[in-house]
Amino acid sequence: AEPVGRCGASLASNYTQTSEIVDLDWENLGFGLVQTDYMYIAKCGPDGNFSAGEMVPFGPIALNPSSGVLNYGQGLFEGLKAYRKTDGSILLFRPEENALRMRTGAERMCMPAPSVEQFVDAVKQTVLANKRWVPPTGKGSLYIRPLLMGSGAVLGLAPAPEYTFIIFVSPVGNYFKEGLAPINLIVEDKFHRATPGGTGCVKTIGNYASVLMAQKIAKEKGYSDVLYLDAVHKKYLEEVSSCNIFVVKGNVISTPAIKGTILPGITRKSIIDVALSKGFQVEERLVSVDELLDADEVFCTGTAVVVSPVGSITYQGKSVQYGHQGVGVVSQQLYTALTSLQMGQTEDWMGWTMQL
Ligand code: COI
Repeated sequence: AEPVGRCGASLASNYTQTSEIVDLDWENLGFGLVQTDYMYIAKCGPDGNFSAGEMVPFGPIALNPSSGVLNYGQGLFEGLKAYRKTDGSILLFRPEENALRMRTGAERMCMPAPSVEQFVDAVKQTVLANKRWVPPTGKGSLYIRPLLMGSGAVLGLAPAPEYTFIIFVSPVGNYFKEGLAPINLIVEDKFHRATPGGTGCVKTIGNYASVLMAQKIAKEKGYSDVLYLDAVHKKYLEEVSSCNIFVVKGNVISTPAIKGTILPGITRKSIIDVALSKGFQVEERLVSVDELLDADEVFCTGTAVVVSPVGSITYQGKSVQYGHQGVGVVSQQLYTALTSLQMGQTEDWMGWTMQL
């Protein structure tokens, strides 16, 4: 693909004229990178202001070996999705929420962040530039990955003098290889994801590197992923490597409260509102690992995983099963309510979608 130069409204509207969809095996999309045409890139120097972004061909970037992100992990990422409606238009889901979360995370990581307006505009431009990669309705979504990193050179430990904001995209299907079938989790009591006072509540890149070991061991044992406990009492549920967790008992849906070690998921927050609107009682509080024993259903939420039902959880050698190996009624109800809203199949009574 040829570079298309600086982005402006006129270029963005050119992209909208690309109506064809790429020829991909849409039936078998997983959650792996499919490289698309363009990515967005903007830089911020010591003055703290981001440049107007550019849309450039997707590909490798040059980074100083001494950059803050490579040496000291000064980086954040976001994740959101775009869906294609049957009329061909594209819907984004709550992009301002990602912009705000990136700003909160950037503050914690001593980084400047793009404004909400620049972030949302950059997301729109990147999606429109790669419109032909948005899967046909019902075949998946376009996963949007904004990155913010300390790209300037440092040697002593300090915030980097320059930052790079990038957005790339990839068409995706289901996150877990199980597809929509329930996943099997193991509760981890040796490794922890986050500690009080740490960075568990922001989407910094290091949070994800630090769970790879526990995840690898769990996968080798045949589990889909790991459910972490709090590092202090080793008793309260925190989250899964890449998503938040909910426990259903009767009409009450409980999820760990956001208290510094848990990522404030946008899907988590949306599911809480959807559940309340359906008449469930939702409790954000400390959820003890013992509550897994008599729960009716357990499910995970996240941008990548959407709403993933949990079929079993193993803790200290004992397993509890949920949903008779099928999708629980509540998980199914909430999944359907959320995804039909995201895909524009029901009226957006929450005002969460943004049409491109
Ligand atoms: C997302 O759900 O967007 C995430 O950030 C999780 C990631 C590990 C795929």
